Amino acid sequence: MSDETSKRALSRRGLLGGAGLALASAGAAGIAQAQPPAGAEPPPDSDPDFGGAEHHPAPPPMEAPPKVVDWNWVRSQWALDWSWVNLSAMLFASHPRFVRNAIARHRDGLDANPVAYLEANNRPLQNAARRAAGLYFGADPEAIALVESTTSGIGLVYNGLRIGYGEEILTTTHDYYVTHESLRLLARRSGATVRRISLFDQAATASAAQIVGRLMAAITERTRVMALTWVHSSTGLKMPIAASLRGVNAAREPSKKVLLCVDGVHGFGVEDVTFDQLGADVLVAGCHKWLFGPRGSGVVFFRPDSLGRFEPTIPTFLAPNAYGPWLGDYDPGPTTGARMTPGGFKAFEHVWALNEAFAFHGMVGKAAIEARTHGLASRLKLALSQLPNVVVRTPMDPGMSAGIVSFDLPGLSADAVVRRLREGKVIGSAAPYATRHVRLTPSFRNTEADVDFAVQILANIRR
Ligand SMILES: Cc1ncc(COP(=O)(O)O)c(C=O)c1O
Repeated sequence: MSDETSKRALSRRGLLGGAGLALASAGAAGIAQAQPPAGAEPPPDSDPDFGGAEHHPAPPPMEAPPKVVDWNWVRSQWALDWSWVNLSAMLFASHPRFVRNAIARHRDGLDANPVAYLEANNRPLQNAARRAAGLYFGADPEAIALVESTTSGIGLVYNGLRIGYGEEILTTTHDYYVTHESLRLLARRSGATVRRISLFDQAATASAAQIVGRLMAAITERTRVMALTWVHSSTGLKMPIAASLRGVNAAREPSKKVLLCVDGVHGFGVEDVTFDQLGADVLVAGCHKWLFGPRGSGVVFFRPDSLGRFEPTIPTFLAPNAYGPWLGDYDPGPTTGARMTPGGFKAFEHVWALNEAFAFHGMVGKAAIEARTHGLASRLKLALSQLPNVVVRTPMDPGMSAGIVSFDLPGLSADAVVRRLREGKVIGSAAPYATRHVRLTPSFRNTEADVDFAVQILANIRR
């Protein structure tokens, strides 16, 4: 990306926290249009990595969003089976219309002429997606990698972490399988140790001060990485990430600084913050949950000064450091977001449609989406807390929670409650953790009526 583009991206950061529809034009402008394989002439800088020339075409025609957020219009963008109440945003996305249309357009182009369409579009649209992600999250696009899921991103981050024998990674008992398993594999390869600590006994009553206090007290001279999760998928607790590491690294030399690496999937697409405000060094997020991006898409954000602590695992196809160094037999140089983006031929129609996912969020607005999601989650928690047969596990405080609402019906297994909800045509889920809770996860496509309907079913459950 040119300095000019990078400056433009940074100067727009201030907008990201602003009111929703102010972002409509910024979001739409972030979309790069697919180029048809007209004439199938190779682009001027065509090379064997299937990247076309960089170009900045006009945005595609998109229906103008309403002037104020009309949640009915927003909801109408999905093609869900509306006989079901989907309180399942934390699991797997249904594509909203802009994303659906983009995938269909690219799929048709690829089916008509796969090689020419790929040559014309791949590099521009992957780089446009990286810019759109950067604009959305206030992060440097050059330090962003595109991946296929949170799981693959976390695997690539911890597989590529430079860490030595005897050095330590600190994580917690509250993190997800994917983080724990990636760290276990890393420890086996490197001889580094992994230490898991508990931050609280009950998420619902945990305080930020207690959590930060326990994390700080656990850091030792040997600690090199803190591996955390932004919003825990078991209890819905949102970690006070920003407060976590301030000050710890001040006296450390660069290679010994404690990196804060975060599984951000359940905050990304919900919380109205930027990467800098969050304060992580690395954040991994699938885009096929709360962002409602293409299924099989994800992003990894690196602080540029942390990239040197990582090595790519899978050869990238993104120029300039892909085929050139191989053919010229020279070192591809320092780690970059492009080099951390796995190569290989893939379902490119999904990768490229990430542009429209960010544009759609830009249209509705980050602030509006956060307010809507938190509003519905709070309504759900409040109603559940008044039911005598329900124990809410998620903190009530929106500062300590996001869109996940976890709870139990004592005397019934989480799976049994999920079954009863499904019988009533409500989709929730049970957490795949040692202690299993029921989770309902309202998002900005839901309504108050959806929430109330689910509460009514739960109120009527008798053992
Ligand atoms: C905290 C957390 N991280 C990662 C994942 C997996 O995400 P992905 O499907 O993007 O790999 C899940 C659950 O789906 C999760 O709860």
